[in-house]
Amino acid sequence: MKAPVPTSVHPQKILNGEVHNWYRIILGYSDHLVSQLLDRFKIQPGDWVLDPFCGSGTTLVECLKRGINAVGVDANPSSCFAARVKADWTLNGRRLRENAARLRPLYLNEIRTKNHLQDPTYLYLDSTGFLDRGWMSAKPLRKAIALKRSIQALSATSRYKNALTLALISEVVVEASNVKFGPELYCGPAKDNHEVFAGFLQRVETMASDLSTVAELPGSSVEIIEGDSRAVGTIKSVAQHAPYAAVISSPPYPGEHDYTRNSRLELAFLEKVSDITSLRTIKKAMIRSHSKGIYVTDSDGDSVATNARVMSLVNEISQRADHKTHGFARYYPIVAKEYFGGVKKHLASIKPLLKTSGVCAYVVGDQSSYLGVHIPTAEIIRDLAYEVGFTDVTIDHFRDRWSTKTSKKMEEHILVLRPEKQPHAPHP
Ligand SMILES: C[S@@+](CC[C@H](N)C(=O)[O-])C[C@H]1O[C@@H](n2cnc3c(N)ncnc32)[C@H](O)[C@@H]1O
Repeated sequence: MKAPVPTSVHPQKILNGEVHNWYRIILGYSDHLVSQLLDRFKIQPGDWVLDPFCGSGTTLVECLKRGINAVGVDANPSSCFAARVKADWTLNGRRLRENAARLRPLYLNEIRTKNHLQDPTYLYLDSTGFLDRGWMSAKPLRKAIALKRSIQALSATSRYKNALTLALISEVVVEASNVKFGPELYCGPAKDNHEVFAGFLQRVETMASDLSTVAELPGSSVEIIEGDSRAVGTIKSVAQHAPYAAVISSPPYPGEHDYTRNSRLELAFLEKVSDITSLRTIKKAMIRSHSKGIYVTDSDGDSVATNARVMSLVNEISQRADHKTHGFARYYPIVAKEYFGGVKKHLASIKPLLKTSGVCAYVVGDQSSYLGVHIPTAEIIRDLAYEVGFTDVTIDHFRDRWSTKTSKKMEEHILVLRPEKQPHAPHP
């Protein structure tokens, strides 16, 4: 860990999405919100903060800006990859640009071949039907795969190659592919062509310039772990930095979100998925939040079977599902129960990792994706937090969002949990 030193760049002055914008996941939260929470809880340089659902690293990057140490956990390898690149500020911007420039001849050679047809990214997207469904058109795909293969062949350290790969996957998702988010992924109009290499170079330029800006900051220690936060307390490299001053996170919402579908292009380009088995392994490590991610061996729901509120919600969804003929509706009550069971396990596992004076802030949203049944997410999680021993729980209204799916206003909250106070030591 580097000691904080005086710096000419004040972290609170870097507010224009520097580093965050290199790559953001669609269901990520705002860096400004994290910044406000760090202020509100008076988290200081040298403190340790944990984000057990770190996504693309919004909390971690904000901590790094301020010299606060941070640990992030996520079950999705593509999020971990992005967060790791975004948290590596020892990269030199000039060298990153030079490496990108050295790619050009490799790329020009590669694009002349038909290697892409045997490439793992192509084989996965083709065999799973994503190409037939129009996720990416033939020409941009060919160019993006040629660039990926050129980065793989480049003689450079893996840290630089990873940064270049992040620039590529951002360009693929945002510009070169046909996917759009609203907030779930869908296909927009087909882009028959796209200048992938030019767009990639622009992204590298932004990264290089941001790296020069943040190089003046003192930095801190940031670690990212691919893991399952339902048992976050059992992850060695998480436990070794306990006790934490704060947890700042946005867990999955119970809203029929499939975090692996939203990042499937990234997973394919990173070669983290090759078939149904590799995909299932990732899904199984996640809190259940989608009816296509429920398995016969699932049992998180058992831990909430005696919670009256969860069970009444599950029964209501069940009754509505009885009138539906489409197959997945029958899984909706199961997802809701498994979701809250997974969250409860997580809360029980994280509580011992906190300082007695520590605090957890979770950004959560109400939902009604399951046959219109209103799910008061924050209120239910508050009940579960009390059940696992948190003694001080408040719910702050954060904002309202309009759900296009249900045409209803949905509230988002910041749930603030504080652990039990330790009993006072007896006087001698
Ligand atoms: C709402 S997103 C977090 C976004 C993040 N705050 C950001 O700004 O990028 C929730 C994240 O939880 C992750 N996740 C779901 N289940 C998990 C589990 N059991 N353990 C760890 N991460 C999990 C998903 O992969 C997803 O990245």
